[in-house]
Amino acid sequence: MGLELKDKVAIVTGGSRGIGSGIAHALLLAGARVFICGRQEADLKSALQALSSSGEGSIDGIVADVSRYQDCRKLVEAAVERFGRLDILVNNAGAGHSYKPIDQISPEVWDATIGTNLSGMFYCCREAVPLMRKAGAGYIFNISSTATIVLCQGGSAYNASKTGVSGLTETLVKDVRYDGIRVSEIVIGSVSTADRGYERWKLAIEDVAQIVIDLYKLPARALVSRVELWPSQPPPNR
Ligand SMILES: NC(=O)c1ccc[n+]([C@@H]2O[C@H](COP(=O)([O-])OP(=O)(O)OC[C@H]3O[C@@H](n4cnc5c(N)ncnc54)[C@H](OP(=O)(O)O)[C@@H]3O)[C@@H](O)[C@H]2O)c1
Repeated sequence: MGLELKDKVAIVTGGSRGIGSGIAHALLLAGARVFICGRQEADLKSALQALSSSGEGSIDGIVADVSRYQDCRKLVEAAVERFGRLDILVNNAGAGHSYKPIDQISPEVWDATIGTNLSGMFYCCREAVPLMRKAGAGYIFNISSTATIVLCQGGSAYNASKTGVSGLTETLVKDVRYDGIRVSEIVIGSVSTADRGYERWKLAIEDVAQIVIDLYKLPARALVSRVELWPSQPPPNR
């Protein structure tokens, strides 16, 4: 029998905008209790307000920067304190950068990209896994990118961070598979968002959210460890 989301507790990092906000919305519609984070307080507050009327679930969140280990500890602690347990972790928070030759990418941009996209994912998994292991169940979704497959010139920091996500996820699947914890890497192509631009040929945020919901609802014995979700049509003029 498939798993239901009603009353399940989910953390969505970077849930204050874009894809993360869409995943939080879909989880709330399915009846889950959702805890989100982002660095900018104003965006977090407006997301909490906007999402509070979504579905039957409950929403809360805190300001946290996932590139900081202590913030990730506080995030997981706060979610458990607020909702009493942790069933799902969606590692979605991500940072991009302007594509440039490596000698024009500053160490600060490198550190911020790796810190958010890869270290942040490790920190959150490190805090979530013991709780899920104790419960004998859990699901971790790592939001990844087709930059792990098509490594475009100039994207050294972003490409390295996301290929790192593939390595982390594949290893984590093996680390926790006997603990009842499922882990999936969701590899996505271009998605229409306010930050990255709305365009008709791209995937919609709802497409990514639907994958998360559908995978969770599979029977616990079934694991889709990696999904590649591409726009079905190429960008115009390519
Ligand atoms: N959109 C695409 O086309 C696309 C394609 C492939 C993969 N992805 C991946 O999908 C994920 C979401 O992308 P998106 O397009 O929705 O991005 P977005 O619109 O820029 O939103 C990013 C979210 O993450 C938060 N965030 C960024 N850095 C953070 C940090 N250090 N700590 C905590 N929160 C942080 C942001 O809030 P604050 O700024 O307030 O912190 C925001 O809520 C990322 O992992 C991205 O790499 C996106």
